[in-house]
Amino acid sequence: MSALRFSDTISAALAEGILVVTIDNAPVNALSADVRAGLMAALDHAEKDGNVAGVVLTGAGNSFIGGADIKEFGKPPVEPHLPDVVSRIEAFAKPVAAAINGVALGGGLEVALACHRRVAAPTTKLGLPEVKLGIVPGAGGTQRLTRLTGVAAAIDMIANGRIISAVEALKLGIIDGVSGDTLLPDALADIKATNASSLRRTGLLSVPSETLEVIDKAAADILRKARGQRAPAEAVRLVRLAATVSLSEGLTEERRTFIALRDSEEAASLRHVFFAERATGKVEGLEAVAPRKIETIGIVGTGLMGSGIAVSALNGGYRVIGVEQNVEAAAKGRDRIVALLDKAVQSGRLDACGREDRVSRLTVTADMRQLAQADIVIEAVFDDLAVKTELFQRLDTIVHADAILATNTSYLDPDLIAAATARPERVVGLHFFSPAHIMRLLEVVNCKKTAPDVLATALGLAKRLGKLPIVSGVTEGFIGNTIFSAYRREAEYMVEDGAAPQEIDAALEAYGFPMGPFAVFDMAGLEIAWARRKRQAATRDPSARYVVIADRLCEAGRFGQKTGLGWYAYPEGKRTVDPTVTEMIDVARAEKGIVPKPFTADEIVSRLLKAMVVEGDALLSRGIAARASDIDLVMINGYGFPASKGGPMFAAGRR
Ligand code: 3HC
Repeated sequence: MSALRFSDTISAALAEGILVVTIDNAPVNALSADVRAGLMAALDHAEKDGNVAGVVLTGAGNSFIGGADIKEFGKPPVEPHLPDVVSRIEAFAKPVAAAINGVALGGGLEVALACHRRVAAPTTKLGLPEVKLGIVPGAGGTQRLTRLTGVAAAIDMIANGRIISAVEALKLGIIDGVSGDTLLPDALADIKATNASSLRRTGLLSVPSETLEVIDKAAADILRKARGQRAPAEAVRLVRLAATVSLSEGLTEERRTFIALRDSEEAASLRHVFFAERATGKVEGLEAVAPRKIETIGIVGTGLMGSGIAVSALNGGYRVIGVEQNVEAAAKGRDRIVALLDKAVQSGRLDACGREDRVSRLTVTADMRQLAQADIVIEAVFDDLAVKTELFQRLDTIVHADAILATNTSYLDPDLIAAATARPERVVGLHFFSPAHIMRLLEVVNCKKTAPDVLATALGLAKRLGKLPIVSGVTEGFIGNTIFSAYRREAEYMVEDGAAPQEIDAALEAYGFPMGPFAVFDMAGLEIAWARRKRQAATRDPSARYVVIADRLCEAGRFGQKTGLGWYAYPEGKRTVDPTVTEMIDVARAEKGIVPKPFTADEIVSRLLKAMVVEGDALLSRGIAARASDIDLVMINGYGFPASKGGPMFAAGRR
């Protein structure tokens, strides 16, 4: 094999008369300008050289191609454009095969779809996840995938941004084969057996026929979930178009839509979220720190939170030891955990084998001494300082010297809990959000004395649990609840100033939140915040603004949805404006001599954003949050802030 180089990122070698072209653009072989130019040069060479009978495209490292280069979006486009590269591959006179050795996403799958043959390694992941970036595929994905899978399956994959395995791709007709450990030889054999005079060009296939009913159902499922986002609806439209217009018309309309969406606020916001997520893993000072080894996770308390954490840990492949106060509680805790696994089986998220494997790694006991085997113990007991410090002092005497102690407290000061132990450097906060096996957000609390390798271990653990870990310093409520309190406070100020709760909720829901704040308060229950306000009453600055309405609701026994009454009434479960509440609000305003003023939806959103940003800036200046984008991610993943707006810090900056 003689080596050829076509650009910094594209090299090739001739093997058995086939030009094997390798894309090497670490970390994910994104389709940068250099990759595109190199591919074109490789095709030029293959076209002219009579010794080349066909081409195999493959990627270096763990990716085939991770997609278009997202860093290029927002910059002036550089030729050759991706659709031109893709069209050239499809029209190429000699056979071209994709040997898909790792992720083939977005533009990466579009390159593969244009090839005449596609063989994938068994671990390959394929998909067109563009909607997650607020865009649609822009290099033929909506038109070519549909010609292979039919409209309904293409809608499901593209409009959901769903990533699939090689086996599913084979079933859907997206690839021609799954190789064993011999991807390149398989691809070479495949292409050598391909008849160059009758190449299968995806764009020339007709779309498989389906009933309108199946297509309409797939489309309706997406549109119901899209909540104000444009890209999923546009993806549905373009996929449907593939069945009714020519390839070239479809491609033109796809490109026009791609460019319009790429330049939209929604896409800019989602790109911000993409890079923000990648930034969270980079924690100053931890670059060279090796994490401790974790195999067994102890969980003290197997209630709602503890059982969710246990399922998450089992899903992450760990051995789990749950601890309860007595044998009966341990049996109940075990039942709760197994019930969550059963639910996952029922919904198809887990198979019977996976369930058995998880159950085999689970122990729930009343004997705390079993935690001597744990490499980390996470407490999920009642959020009370005395309870938690006493527990940590006990754990300190049971666990081995390298074991980590993690507290799941939401509001207590973990430094106080750590100080009660003999080794405060091994204490860290892991603030899970409920339900812990579902919610992606995990605030990792870096306490005053947390050792760097303990923090690194907590971050590694979070990743293996499939969580999005955000490091927070110690402050009451950490990042999320601090910002949420500011949001809550401002929403209540606005009620006092003249906005009705239902107006505020409607404005936030139109903005993209799944629920406005007052509907959320009612759903979560009003009594916990009430209890906290009562605790804080003695130390509250008497000159600070205080809105009494929420207290009065609680005094009237209105604790939210579960009591049928809260900020709203819930006759037959339906959220309804209650004149009694309107009157309570009027009274509270009158007592302070406030003349209510009208608010537009935009004013409501602006005031809430501003309140969150003021609090966010304070967290940044105190070093509690490392970056503004971390705050955005916390609010998006823990509190329903719409990702399509990029988070409060980003959104306020764009206004
Ligand atoms: N463009 C530019 N950079 C990218 C990129 C892309 N498409 N995909 C990943 N990266 C960068 C990340 O920013 C990160 O950079 P950093 O190290 O400087 O922070 C690095 O690659 C590694 O990324 P991850 O940490 O995410 O690595 P993982 O191994 O966990 O995941 C992945 C790899 C599955 C490829 C994941 O990065 C991913 O999902 N990427 C995005 C895929 C995607 O959305 N592709 C579609 C792009 S849009 C498109 O193709 C339009 C087309 O239709 C025209």
